Order: sequence, then structure tokens, then C-alpha cells
Amino acid sequence: MADVYRPINLFEYEQLASSHLSKMAFDYYCSGAWDEITLRDNRAAFERIKLRPRMLVDVSDRNLSTSILGQHLQLPLLVAPMAFQCLAHPEGELATALAAATAGVGMVLSTMATKSLEEVAAVGYKHNALQWFQLYIHKDRGLTQNLVERAYAAGYQALCLTVDAPILGRRERDARNTFTLPTGLQLANITNISGLNIPQEQGESGLFTYFAEQLNPSVTWADLEWLQSLSPLPLVLKGILRSDDAVRAVEHGAKAIVVSNHGGRQLDGAIASLDALAEIVAAVDGQIEVLVDGGIRRGTDILKALALGAKAVLIGRPALWGLAVAGQIGVSQIISLLEDELSVAMALSGCTSIKDIDPSLVTFKH
Ligand code: GLV
Repeated sequence: MADVYRPINLFEYEQLASSHLSKMAFDYYCSGAWDEITLRDNRAAFERIKLRPRMLVDVSDRNLSTSILGQHLQLPLLVAPMAFQCLAHPEGELATALAAATAGVGMVLSTMATKSLEEVAAVGYKHNALQWFQLYIHKDRGLTQNLVERAYAAGYQALCLTVDAPILGRRERDARNTFTLPTGLQLANITNISGLNIPQEQGESGLFTYFAEQLNPSVTWADLEWLQSLSPLPLVLKGILRSDDAVRAVEHGAKAIVVSNHGGRQLDGAIASLDALAEIVAAVDGQIEVLVDGGIRRGTDILKALALGAKAVLIGRPALWGLAVAGQIGVSQIISLLEDELSVAMALSGCTSIKDIDPSLVTFKH
């Protein structure tokens, strides 16, 4: 990217990415469910919260590192699970994995990946990286069991079960575009189902159809025992938005939760992730780790999320924008922009390490 315009923040990456992607791919990535109220509110929630910086602290040295489930991270950041990354770039999930691993941040690989989970794990292994496998429970229990066993054998360090998608949210842009995967692209880890390449009826999203046909909408808390019996992997529940569900997650043996509304892609009108965070952190009371995603675009957003009690944050769409613009280099640049912004935000708030980021740093007052 030496001789081309280089975006200086994540918003500029998004703008640039739209010209690197087909309309169907860009719409799929950026859209939320129905009126996209939750999608917008995820961002607005960060803007509503204000910082209360501390002054006259020696901030000449700053350490952004932390640990998640006992594993070291260079900064409190993971790349969220996102489907079909080869839609953004031919290297897809492999490029994302390399960027995350070399930066010392985590990555969660989607069940709906377009690269094999073993290949992606091999990239992480080389760099001793934090990698979790995101799971959707298919109706075919054997298929689900096989995915878990493969993830464990490949070296993923946790299983991240998405709990907010018994069926898929209605994303109207996908319906309008009759979303399907282009020829040549398919799910790399579920090769016996070809549903995503099948042409759809006008006004239907192929992913919505896939979920309706293949995923199991009857999963409940009672199934978590079965899931945990399949491997020794710690369980992370992604998509929790209420404190009573968070407490249930603890009771059912989850080791971490991700406070998330799936990037505003599932239930439109659901509470912004950041607004749900404080109540959940209080209810969990340190028994398990709490992460959050949805709307993080600035280092100050990470600071706010950590001040409200998150141990780390996940970014979704921005990683895809980086991937679309410049493959691994683009994802690396996204991570490095956030790292730099977090470092500056910490300095300007009087924080030299992650443990200095406490609830007194934020206020909801205007
Ligand atoms: C897939 O998980 C999606 O949200 O599109």
C-alpha cells in the first residue's frame, strides 16, 4: 500500500472497502437486521458514554497487554467470528489469522469459514496465538460433534458457542440481493452441505435459508452439558444480553461470555452491547471473564468497554474492511490503528496499564 491512499482510521477503511467488494458482499457484511436500529445504537452507545480522565500521572511507559482465559494478549482485542472471509479476499481467514497472530491479538474462527479450520489453526500455532472456534449447532448432531472434535484436535483453545442465533435475523439487504455464495466459494468445514451455492427465490437470503434448514433452533441450556462432554475445551457463550442469562452461563460451567447482539444482525431493537455490559459484569461478579463486541471503532471505545468491566473486546466488520482493502496487511493495519489509539487514549486518561482502567473513568452524565 506504499503508493496508495492509506486510511488513517477504521471509518476510512470502511469507505474504501466498499469499492473493493461486490455489492452483495459489502451489503452482507455491513447490514444489520430489519431497520438496523441496534446496529446504529451499538455505535451510539459508545458516543453516549463520556470519559473522566486522570491528570498528572507519569504515562511515559504504557503496557496494553492482558490475558484472557489464562492466555497472553498484546492488547485486549480479538477478531470476532465472521463468516465467508474469502468473499473479502482470496486469503480469507488465513490472512486474518496471520494478522491477528503476529499482532498478538486473538481470533475466533467461524463455523461458516471459507478456509479449513486446520489450516487456520496452523497459522495460530506458529505464533502461539489465542484462537477459539465459534460453533453453530447444526440439526445433524454428528456434524456438530465432528466440528468440535476437529477444533480440539487442531489446537483451538476454547469453543465459542453463539447463543443468539436459533434462526438467522432478517437482513433485508441480503434478501434484496438474493444472497448466495459465488461459484467457487463454499463452507470449508462443512463440505457435505452445499446449501449456500443454491440459487434462491427472489427476495430470499441463502444464509437465512441455510440456517432454517440446517441449524438447530431447539438448543437450550440443557444441551450445554452434551456440548461440554464432547471435548475438554472451555466453553465461551457469545450473545448474552441479560444478567440472569449471564448467571445461568456461570452455573452451566461457561468460562467466559461475550456480551453481544451479533453486530445488530439478529434481533433488531435489542439493547446495545455496551449498555448491557455493566449489569452483566455486576451479576457475574468476577466468576468468569466478560468480553464485549458491537460498534468498537476507536481506541477510546476499548477504553470505555474496559472501564465498564470487559476483559477484552472483539472487532468484527473493521477486520473485514481491512481484509477487503489489503488482505493480511489491511487487517494488521486495523489492529495497529486500534492499538495506537488505545495507547494514546490511555496516556490521555492517566492509565499506564490495563489494570488502571477502572469504572471511575466513565460517566453516563452529559
Ligand atoms: C453469520 O453468522 C452472520 O451473522 O451473518
